Amino acid sequence: MKSFYNAEKISENVWWVGAVDWSVRNFHGYLTERGTTYNAFLIIDEKVTLVDTVKEPFFNEMMERISTVIDPAKIDYIISNHAEPDHSGALPQAIAAIKPERVIASAMGAKTLKAYYGLDAEVAKDPISLGRGALTFVETKMLHWPDSMISFYDRDGVLFSQDAFGQHLAGSKLWADEYDGALIEHEMSKYYANIINAQSTKVLALLDSLPALNLPVKVIAPDHGPIFRKDFDKVFAAYRRYAGQKPQLRAVVVFATMWHATEALARAFADGVRSAGVEVSIIDLAVSERSAVMTAVANSGLAAFGAPTMNNQMFPAMADILTYIKGLKPLNKIGFAFGSCGWSGEGAKQISAELEAMKFEQPIPFIQSKYKPTADELKRAFDAGATLAEQLKQSV
Ligand code: FEO
Repeated sequence: MKSFYNAEKISENVWWVGAVDWSVRNFHGYLTERGTTYNAFLIIDEKVTLVDTVKEPFFNEMMERISTVIDPAKIDYIISNHAEPDHSGALPQAIAAIKPERVIASAMGAKTLKAYYGLDAEVAKDPISLGRGALTFVETKMLHWPDSMISFYDRDGVLFSQDAFGQHLAGSKLWADEYDGALIEHEMSKYYANIINAQSTKVLALLDSLPALNLPVKVIAPDHGPIFRKDFDKVFAAYRRYAGQKPQLRAVVVFATMWHATEALARAFADGVRSAGVEVSIIDLAVSERSAVMTAVANSGLAAFGAPTMNNQMFPAMADILTYIKGLKPLNKIGFAFGSCGWSGEGAKQISAELEAMKFEQPIPFIQSKYKPTADELKRAFDAGATLAEQLKQSV
């Protein structure tokens, strides 16, 4: 049954033919509370070209959209900018249905497509002519996988940026400027913190290299979320700011608790931060999830972590979140560890060791209380919050 999926024009010769995933809430551990899109693009030139595909279950949606512009069998080339299955899942079916003359990916992309699907792809090298226009490829290794590359269609000035500049945001509008700016900024920041942050050095190198590439960009078309047709300076500046990881005048207190003792320390610490006039938020791991915590940590210059001890170890929810954060390599943080225990008391010490491994500066030693924090321990937590907030103010 036809579903009336249409293609939407994003430039004179390029169409969006992707899919909107309104329902996805868990994107390999990232809470996609607003769903996402898998953007694929169709270039109508003498060589008709499909840039990226969609997640496997959305194959039919993509093909229906393509069919409103051109018979899919007329597609000559398929470009795979990124082989992660949210963009390549529909590729085997697309190749079988379209039988394109060429499938092109980066060198690592060709290997990845072979490993996933047994597909043979040609390695992107020089710019390729599509007839009236040409596609140029720029490798962007590790943004977000080793195979990643971006491509630029010079005839219309469209930069197909795959994961870069994306947002997990389902919607019926195509353009970022049709959404509330604060929503776009929030989703871009969350996406960066949880997908890209670990590769910030490479992001800065890419941003530095873009002017020399002399790409007259008129559209930035990421593989997720709305597309940009203006304010490119703002988009690049946002990525430069995220990648720079300069301390921000904001604090977050992340805690897990069993009988509210660690929670009491968390609240005392946060009140201390507040008393110094620094914005602070408290995140209870019992009612939150990883991507929200990482977003808050990325956007805070001061991050405190507290957990009880359970079976001689830090409470498992805290171990989980610290493992997740560590992999994303946040920089330039002031940290603080705390926790309450019944007897053995390894929790706060282990948290402090993890913060040390992440190179968080810890000017104040961890606080480990027993059973229920004493008035003195709560005062120490409050004072630690106030002191570290004052220190943060000096460093921003
Ligand atoms: Fe949207 Fe790295 O895949």
